[in-house]
Amino acid sequence: MQLVTEENITGLAAARWGTAHDPRLAEIMQALVRHLHDFAREVRLTEPEWMAAMRWLTRTGQISDEKREEFILASDVLGLSMLVVQINHRLDPGATPATVLGPFHIEGSPALEFGADMADRVSGTPLYVTGTVRDLDGKAVGGAVLDVWQADTEGAYEAQLDVDEARLRGKYTSKPDGTYCVRTIAPLGYSIPMDGPVGELISQTDISHYRPAHIHFLLDVPGYEPLITHLFQQGAEYLDSDVVFGTKAELVVEFERREPGPTPDGGTSEVPWLLAGYDFVLQPKA
Ligand code: BEZ
Ligand code: FE
Repeated sequence: MQLVTEENITGLAAARWGTAHDPRLAEIMQALVRHLHDFAREVRLTEPEWMAAMRWLTRTGQISDEKREEFILASDVLGLSMLVVQINHRLDPGATPATVLGPFHIEGSPALEFGADMADRVSGTPLYVTGTVRDLDGKAVGGAVLDVWQADTEGAYEAQLDVDEARLRGKYTSKPDGTYCVRTIAPLGYSIPMDGPVGELISQTDISHYRPAHIHFLLDVPGYEPLITHLFQQGAEYLDSDVVFGTKAELVVEFERREPGPTPDGGTSEVPWLLAGYDFVLQPKA
C-alpha cells in the first residue's frame, strides 16, 4: 500500500490518470494533473479559494446553454482560445492568418450574389468589403465560399436576438477571377457578455471588456487549409486591448470614406459609404 504525502500525491494522481485507454487522453490527463498541482503549490491555494473556484465553475456551467457558452468565453478571455488557434494554424507568413471563431457563428447562412446587401433593413453606414481570394502563388481562387457574419451597431449578433430571418450574415462566392464583394454596414466595437461569472471576474480587474470593430469570415475551400478569421477596422477603439486577444496586424484594414456615387457592385450610393479592400490568401492543404 502506498500512503499519500504532499510530496508523492502528484506522481500518484498522474500515474492513475495514465491508465486512460486512449494514449492521447492519458497524455493530456497526466499533464493536466501535473500543471494543476504545480499551480496549487505555486499560489499555496487556500481552502476558501479552492471553494470559490468550484462555485465559480458551477455558476459558469449553470449559465451556459446552446446560445450561451460561458466556458468558451472564459477560455477566450484567458487567451487560451487564441493560443490554440495559433498552435493549430501555423500558416505561411504570406497566408491570411486565422483568429478565433467566437460564439456567434450560425450554420446555413443564405447564399448572396456579388455585392448583395447582407444588412438588408439594418441601419448603419454602408460598407463594401471587396478584393480577391487567391493562393500563396497569387493564383485566383474562384468558387470560394465566404461565410460572413457580424454584429449590428448596438453590438448584437443574430444569435443573441429573437429573429426569424438571417440578419447580418450571408455566404458570398468568389467569381472565376477570384473577386468577391460583400455589402454590409460598418460594425462597431462591442462588449462581451458581462452579466455572468466571466464578467464578474473581469470586473475585479482593469481589463477592458470590449472587442474592436470587426467582421467574421470563414472560408472552407476544397484543397486549402480552412480559414476562420476577422477583418478589423483600422483606427478602431480597443484594437490594442481586444478582450479575447483576436487581433493581428495583418487583419487590420482601412475603411476608406467615399462620397455618394458609384459603388463596387456596379450600383450607386445616395449617401457617403465606406470601402474596405482585402485579398484573402489561402494556404494549400499540406
Ligand atoms: C466575437 O467575436 O464575436 C466574440 C469572440 C469571443 C468572445 C465573444 C465574442
Ligand atoms: Fe465578433
